[in-house]
Amino acid sequence: MANQEDKFKKVISHAKEYGYVFQSSEIYDGLSAVYDYAQNGVELKNNIRDYWWKAMVQMHDNIVGLDTAIFMHPTTWKASGHVDAFSDPLIDNKDSKKRYRADVLIEDYCAKIETKINKEVNKAAKRFGDAFNKDEFISTNPRVVAYQEKINAILSRMAKSLEDEDLADVKALIEELEIADPLSGSKNWTDVKQFNLMFGTKLGASAETAMDLYLRPETAQGIFVNFSNVQKTGRMKIPFGIAQTGKAFRNEIVARQFIFRMREFEQMEMQFFVKPGTQAEWYEKWKEDRLKWHLSLGMGAENYRFHDHEKLAHYADAASDIEFKFPFGFKELEGIHSRTDFDLKAHEEFSGKKLQYFDHEENKSYVPYVVETSIGLDRMFLAVFSHSLVEEELENGTTRTVLKLPAVLAPTKAAILPLVKKDGLPEIAHNIVEDLKWDFNVAYDEKDAVGRRYRRQDAAGTPFCITVDHDTLDDNTVTIRHRDTMEQQRVKIEDLRDIIKQEVDVKTWLMRML
Ligand code: GAP
Repeated sequence: MANQEDKFKKVISHAKEYGYVFQSSEIYDGLSAVYDYAQNGVELKNNIRDYWWKAMVQMHDNIVGLDTAIFMHPTTWKASGHVDAFSDPLIDNKDSKKRYRADVLIEDYCAKIETKINKEVNKAAKRFGDAFNKDEFISTNPRVVAYQEKINAILSRMAKSLEDEDLADVKALIEELEIADPLSGSKNWTDVKQFNLMFGTKLGASAETAMDLYLRPETAQGIFVNFSNVQKTGRMKIPFGIAQTGKAFRNEIVARQFIFRMREFEQMEMQFFVKPGTQAEWYEKWKEDRLKWHLSLGMGAENYRFHDHEKLAHYADAASDIEFKFPFGFKELEGIHSRTDFDLKAHEEFSGKKLQYFDHEENKSYVPYVVETSIGLDRMFLAVFSHSLVEEELENGTTRTVLKLPAVLAPTKAAILPLVKKDGLPEIAHNIVEDLKWDFNVAYDEKDAVGRRYRRQDAAGTPFCITVDHDTLDDNTVTIRHRDTMEQQRVKIEDLRDIIKQEVDVKTWLMRML
């Protein structure tokens, strides 16, 4: 695939062609940054959610689940700080009339400087060959050091201006750096303004009595307001966690990049309640554990990196992103946040109810500190899907498109293919489907030559094709073909279940975390 942009276009078109993701309300020309999951997409999404849920809830005896409502009492969002502080700094270009996030314009400017650093590094690596020491080069090469200092100075000035709500300085920075509208090239900017990202709606029938509500912008607050309910009814002892998955809504301004940034999306969040003073070690522990979860899927350690935040959200004392190498570069996939006691304390204050824990060992009550892990399910879907889509050169000079999804997440685990549509082969294939479907999602496919059916299943991400042929009539054996290696084995029908289970079992995959 020629370049990143082409690869990303291919990801989007493949997602549609193979029934993974459709544009929402497509017959009405779609709705911007809103998507529907299609017949295969919903299975992949469910499998990712399940893989997360099992790792979080089933495998931890001190983490329990919850499923709270999307609508919450409006004071929740006052207490959480979202009414006052959940906003993006926006700037309009007066000529193109396009709106941008001011911080993203500045970050993109820095990314361009980073590209220059990478070019210097690559040039030097070629020049010095095996003797090249990347770390030393980066810390001593005058040009690279100057670039890095420039990036640091820009980002720390931006962080400080945003922290101080000094939006005039954010605009001044854009002007000083001579940042132009990426589309029109114009540098004619408006002032920077804050724009709240929450969607409002109304509860109640009549206009006079209706109550203003928000669609939740994160699932976490449903966990915080239920802290005492869960702790008491579940007799939970600190440290313990509460996990939930569910929809969240944000009126994103820069909503591009397919399902990477959506207006309606799903989160998988876990709030881990700890004794005050121990949050730093739990924060490190969860950073490590979450990375292990990602690595267990076998998508390559080189495709992940941590990015520690310089600008912290209003609730955090430390925060880091796990970034993944998407087709458009390294971007945030998951956040790990040390949220202090900000949320529970704020809800205590606004509700007048105590949200504390009585620690029997310490013989005192306190408001626990919280370490949060928060991952976007749709973003995880995009990570898995885009990484898995490859175009392979075959020995005979042809290419095949194959979706090498981790088998544990694949929507369909096996396709059962009768070699021909006669001689009793379809009946045997149907019997295999009937038998295997109790354990796995399997499909039956009899249309076209078997080679084409293999290609179709490769492109749809099915890890196994099972072919029933004339020998099956004599010896009850079938051919099982592995998607990634294209290797074929002759096996007994009665062994199929165990062979498939070995490769798709959640346990096999999650054990890699240990
Ligand atoms: N409770 C903390 C929280 O919501 P966040 O960094 O704003 O933190 C967490 O969001 C994760 O949710 C992100 O790492 C990302 O994976 C996902 N996410 C956030 N906004 C999103 C959007 N507009 N579309 C898709 N996923 C999004």
